[in-house]
Amino acid sequence: MPIATEYLLDTPAGRARAAALLGSGRLVAFATETVYGLGADATDARAVAGIFAAKGRPRFNPLIAHYPDAAAAFAHVAADARARSLAAAFWPGALTLVLPRAAACPVAEIAGAGLPSLAVRVPSHDGARALLRAIGRPVAAPSANPSGRVSPTTAAHVLEGLYGRIDAVLEGGACPVGVESTVLDLTGAAPRLLRPGGIPREAIEAAIGPLAIANTSDDNAPRAPGMLSSHYAPSLPLRLDARAVGSDEALLAFGPPLPGARMVFNLSPEGDLTEAAARLFAGLRSLDRAALQAGCTAIAAMAVPGRGLGLAINDRLARAAAPRPAGTEGTHPS
Ligand code: TXA
Ligand code: MG
Repeated sequence: MPIATEYLLDTPAGRARAAALLGSGRLVAFATETVYGLGADATDARAVAGIFAAKGRPRFNPLIAHYPDAAAAFAHVAADARARSLAAAFWPGALTLVLPRAAACPVAEIAGAGLPSLAVRVPSHDGARALLRAIGRPVAAPSANPSGRVSPTTAAHVLEGLYGRIDAVLEGGACPVGVESTVLDLTGAAPRLLRPGGIPREAIEAAIGPLAIANTSDDNAPRAPGMLSSHYAPSLPLRLDARAVGSDEALLAFGPPLPGARMVFNLSPEGDLTEAAARLFAGLRSLDRAALQAGCTAIAAMAVPGRGLGLAINDRLARAAAPRPAGTEGTHPS
């Protein structure tokens, strides 16, 4: 495992170094429009295994393969008419399509967890696409955070969680969307929404008609209805749909804040869901830290409407509030 992590500037030299490291099987975090990804050459099984080790992922979840354009992505999967019209409408952008692997797909089995399908995405972040173009190979990239912790939307967040565990982070600014991509399964007759994300469900339905909503979680394991795996966890317990604030609580507000909180982070004072998504993970981090320091015992989150990006925001908040595996309570994102 690396002992120091290079911080690479968003310059031609920094980008060239990032591409060279990725091309030689090393781990490099880079910005996308959604969150920072922890990248490895998707065709290099050893490199991809390094992602799981660096994140401390309990098991080998399938990863998304990132491409610079739709033509490159569709060379590795079997894209039907639905996939092509979605790509035309939303790529580059925050939509991931799960499609059958093509016969000659070079993506390592471990990247797709041995599944016959592969998740592909073309990010819209200019730096990400330039990097992908420079490497000329698909890049497997989950969010660049230790497993179960809040996803990073700045290079500083990445270093906070993974310094010394990855080879480099390429500066790419703050991620403008702020929540991960929408994951859509197109392997069956009916398209299924596996994860709400940066492209709203309504926009996808306007393009291809009604979606089935999958009862799966981020780790892609089948689970009982209502069971959500803990994820995106802050240190303090998170209480959802707060209608009042306790004297020991910090408030994650949306719109006009509830009165009486010791401290407040407002996702969007005007109630704008796009702004709220962009500020969600950074806000959870900073509120969690400040609230801990101030001796608060919990974070109360106000309700967020479930339309547009609100579906993804509520999904992430529900995971952040879900019961945690034993031994992880009270630990701070490192
Ligand atoms: O915005 C994003 O999607 C970010 C950036 C870095 O691109 N990446 C990201 O990756 O969020 P990750 O690994 O945290 O989430 C990937 C999601 C998981 O829910 C995983 O189960 C699902 O995609 N997934 C990947 N491959 C799949 C497959 N073959 N079948 C079903 N689900 C799959
Ligand atoms: Mg993740």
